[in-house]
Amino acid sequence: MGDYENGTPATSVYQLVREQLEYEQYRWVITGVAGFIGSNLLQALLELGQRVAGVDNFLTGHRHNLDQVRELVGADAWRNFELIEGDIRDLSVCRAACDRADYVLHQAALGSVSRSMAEPLLCNDINVGGQLNVLDAARLAGARRVVYAASSASYGDHPGLPKQEQHIGQALSPYALTKHVNELYAGVYARCYGLETIGLRYFNVFGPRQDPAGAYAAVIPLWIAAMIGGRQLVINGDGESSRDFCYVANVVQANLLAALTDKRAAVNQVYNVAVNARTSLNELFLLLHEMLAERHPHLHDFQPAYGPFRAGDVRHSQADISKAVKLLGYAPTHDLRRGLRQALRWYEQHLAA
Ligand SMILES: NC(=O)c1ccc[n+]([C@@H]2O[C@H](COP(=O)([O-])OP(=O)(O)OC[C@H]3O[C@@H](n4cnc5c(N)ncnc54)[C@H](O)[C@@H]3O)[C@@H](O)[C@H]2O)c1
Repeated sequence: MGDYENGTPATSVYQLVREQLEYEQYRWVITGVAGFIGSNLLQALLELGQRVAGVDNFLTGHRHNLDQVRELVGADAWRNFELIEGDIRDLSVCRAACDRADYVLHQAALGSVSRSMAEPLLCNDINVGGQLNVLDAARLAGARRVVYAASSASYGDHPGLPKQEQHIGQALSPYALTKHVNELYAGVYARCYGLETIGLRYFNVFGPRQDPAGAYAAVIPLWIAAMIGGRQLVINGDGESSRDFCYVANVVQANLLAALTDKRAAVNQVYNVAVNARTSLNELFLLLHEMLAERHPHLHDFQPAYGPFRAGDVRHSQADISKAVKLLGYAPTHDLRRGLRQALRWYEQHLAA
């Protein structure tokens, strides 16, 4: 996929979208703004001079994520941000956030497969009930479009690789089911009320501000923190499970393209967002080890441990991204290695702090 070191050519669709935003100021809503992906979207939009209302109840997100964005974008851009501290399960919170909104980027969710296995009711309340409130608030406010975080978990037990949007299997976790229901509700709001929606099925996203702590941390931040801290690292299963790891800048790009596309055929659709590569957990370990061992001599003899497979996990995952490339002009700028270089720089600074 292209030359990642040099990024995309200056004439890319994404470049045009960014130029468009330099001349127009819209009002955006980001739900889950204090989370990993939400805070990266916030940073990008504020850097582009946009106005943003962000909703979060800090269930898994952090104030320090917002503090970091404030430092990075500076005081002037930060004045364009309004935080609405509240819960998307409360319709009045969603209505306040969506008031006069142009675009809604809905990220808030209970985002972990394993946590959904432990707390299926909470997962349903937030992911399904919360999204319904967001869709309804956006409809009542006359928003131009809702772009929402869907998930590769929706592919469930479908064996096909790479994953194509039209072929999904049975859900393997409560989380996966809620993400599929999100797509069904978005479709209903499009057909019944004419609300424009686009679902982005993120694959395993990683990058700055992804939480390395807690029982439900994602594999990349968890392993980086373990390796830098010299702690035991456990690979679930035999390490041959594979994922299409996607750096967060690619996800930000997909969101902006989805929000601003004026192609009719591109709207009310669902897209895979990843890079179309497949890396096993064993390969991921070797890559991280190679990249970190140079600067962290204690890692020279570091070996991972192997534990049981985790319930609810799919075995292999890889995205066919041709639909997003064709209809949205999506062109990922970061493959795994380039993304890890950026992410590692961030974790080395912040884990040491
Ligand atoms: N990170 C990934 O690899 C990945 C993959 C597929 C899909 N997704 C989806 O992307 C979205 C963002 O994920 P993330 O990785 O940034 O997770 P995250 O946990 O860092 O962010 C989620 C944010 O939503 C907030 N939130 C949760 N429940 C809320 C509620 N009831 N009201 C208001 N705010 C609430 C949390 O406090 C948090 O700030 C989620 O919808 C997730 O399901 C993520």
